[in-house]
Amino acid sequence: CMEKIAVVGAGVSGLGAIKTCLEEGLEPTCFEGSDDIGGLWRYEEKAQSGRPSIYESATSNTSKETTTYSDYPFPDHFPNYLHNSRIMEYLRMYVQHFDLTKHIRFLSKVCSVRKRSDFSCTGQWDVVVEAAGKQESYVFDGIIVCSGMYSDPFLPLQNFPGIKRFKGQYIHSWEYKSPEKFRGKKIIAVGIGNSGADLAVELSHVASQVFLSTRQGAWIWNRVWDYGMPVDTVLFTRFNAVLNKFYPTFLINRWAENKLNARFNHDVYGLLPQHRFLSHQATFSDDLPNHIISGRVLIKPNVREFTVTSAIFEDGTEEDLDVVIFATGYTFSFPFLENNSTVLDSQRSMFKFVFPPRLEKPTLAFIGILQPVGATIPTSELQSRWAVRVFKGLNKLPSVSVMVDDIRKKRKKFEKEFLTNPRDSRRVQYVNYMDEIASEMGVKPNLLSLFLWDPKLAMEIFFGPCTPYQYRLRGPGKWAGARKAILTQRERIIKPLRTRTLTRDHPSYSVPFWLKSTCAALLLFVLTLVVIKG
Ligand SMILES: Cc1cc2nc3c(=O)[nH]c(=O)nc-3n(C[C@H](O)[C@H](O)[C@H](O)COP(=O)(O)OP(=O)(O)OC[C@H]3O[C@@H](n4cnc5c(N)ncnc54)[C@H](O)[C@@H]3O)c2cc1C
Ligand SMILES: *[C@@H]1O[C@H](CO)[C@@H](O)[C@H](O)[C@H]1NC(C)=O
Ligand SMILES: *[C@@H]1O[C@H](CO)[C@@H](O)[C@H](O)[C@H]1NC(C)=O
Ligand SMILES: *[C@@H]1O[C@H](CO)[C@@H](O)[C@H](O)[C@H]1NC(C)=O
Repeated sequence: CMEKIAVVGAGVSGLGAIKTCLEEGLEPTCFEGSDDIGGLWRYEEKAQSGRPSIYESATSNTSKETTTYSDYPFPDHFPNYLHNSRIMEYLRMYVQHFDLTKHIRFLSKVCSVRKRSDFSCTGQWDVVVEAAGKQESYVFDGIIVCSGMYSDPFLPLQNFPGIKRFKGQYIHSWEYKSPEKFRGKKIIAVGIGNSGADLAVELSHVASQVFLSTRQGAWIWNRVWDYGMPVDTVLFTRFNAVLNKFYPTFLINRWAENKLNARFNHDVYGLLPQHRFLSHQATFSDDLPNHIISGRVLIKPNVREFTVTSAIFEDGTEEDLDVVIFATGYTFSFPFLENNSTVLDSQRSMFKFVFPPRLEKPTLAFIGILQPVGATIPTSELQSRWAVRVFKGLNKLPSVSVMVDDIRKKRKKFEKEFLTNPRDSRRVQYVNYMDEIASEMGVKPNLLSLFLWDPKLAMEIFFGPCTPYQYRLRGPGKWAGARKAILTQRERIIKPLRTRTLTRDHPSYSVPFWLKSTCAALLLFVLTLVVIKG
């Protein structure tokens, strides 16, 4: 029977996986190549090859109530958006609370994971680990791969003719740590993802000039949304997920684009993309427009070529430069897996981004190998909960042909809806994806019955942020604190903001009666629709 599980990596995905194994009575051994937990979120002064790396100021773009593990809320005084040191603090608390450290082997790099010769009947794996210069061999009943997606910088130098003769410095954003070294320099950031925008803003405080070059532009949205609430707590709700299903895409695009243009006109600011809002990942930056309007960051088109001292852009303009920072993203791979198609095909297809579909036994799971439009911690955690139940045979996977079909269908749909870019072909909408996995294992909240028996909770679940506690209300892994965590989430959002308490009486943060009744009516209506449709 299934007992010994290897977890590869002790980042946020690996920690959730260890905890999940313990919850289900399995015996996890986590191998972590570095000497500490945290993966990407553990800031180090120097980037090390083969490891994820962040800059000193990196702060989450998902807020704490949506970024939490589902049965371990962030302390209420933690800020809504978390500096990497704050995430580490939380992870250390989590590890201590669930006593995970003794299951982790540090400085142990997994170098090979291979099917055993009797794999088709046992589903077991041979695992080779390198620790202290020695190779150790193990046999495991199941493997949970949590090795991350941000360790291999993607640096397409061939797309930038002349970069080799450029006399200044060029680096990938993966190497960037802090702005001091760049004082007084003329700098260009290439690429307008989250990293490119963050770096451009940060560097412009010390640089003599910062340019931000983008081929296709971007929609820029902000962490601080209407009334100062974290954007994901406002937008990622079940109510909106239902609207998304019924509204035509062009209306949603129009709404979002009008909203973002009302803050600053993307055309005037040189950022207007050719693509519509929903077709490509938007970039988070609260500060970028401030820095553009004060001239500290200048937006430029794609670089056509580099000369010894400058860049020439596609519009023919030329700028002198000292430093080029490529914020061109990452690729990922699993160098420890046997390099042929018996595990993964060339497109690395996985059923619901977790299970390679063609294995004789489903004893290998990939966790966190996707890009949720939402937070990674809860997504990975739910994937692990599902994976472990499949390992144990408590949930069954469909037949190979059904899985392969599902993968193909989703890929088709994706290609139709999104810009085809291999690096974000793993994008999923948070609520939809979570519900899909939760349904597999029977932990999706049952709104209809909640609405009858616990309307207060149902309202918060439907109209409030879709927080991970919702997936601990029932079924396997049920957590007694889930209901309370949901009903107090707004307090935890407000608490770290209201640090100057007013002595006068202020109106409490409550929803007027008429709004409540309208919402209730609407909820009933929508639920009926869902029931009829589904
Ligand atoms: C700049 C940046 C900002 C981000 N901001 C957010 C955010 O705000 N919110 C959010 O939800 N997500 C964010 N993400 C996504 C981020 O990837 C996840 O939050 C999270 O870090 C993923 O964790 P992980 O455990 O899957 O992988 P990682 O954090 O990459 O951890 C993988 C671990 O596996 C170890 N490992 C790898 N290979 C081996 C091996 N062969 N043997 C042993 N150990 C191995 C590594 O040493 C590492 O410790 C951001 C990503 C980037 C790049
Ligand atoms: C490919 O897979 C087969 C069967 O599992 C294995 O015997 C072989 O060693 C693998 N080849 C490589 C190059 O990994
Ligand atoms: C694995 O296969 C790919 C593509 O076939 C090849 O480029 C790569 O070099 C191989 N890696 C190893 C370690 O054999
Ligand atoms: C947050 O930033 C990371 C790194 O750029 C990105 O991969 C992720 O998709 C962003 N999150 C959201 C919700 O956009």
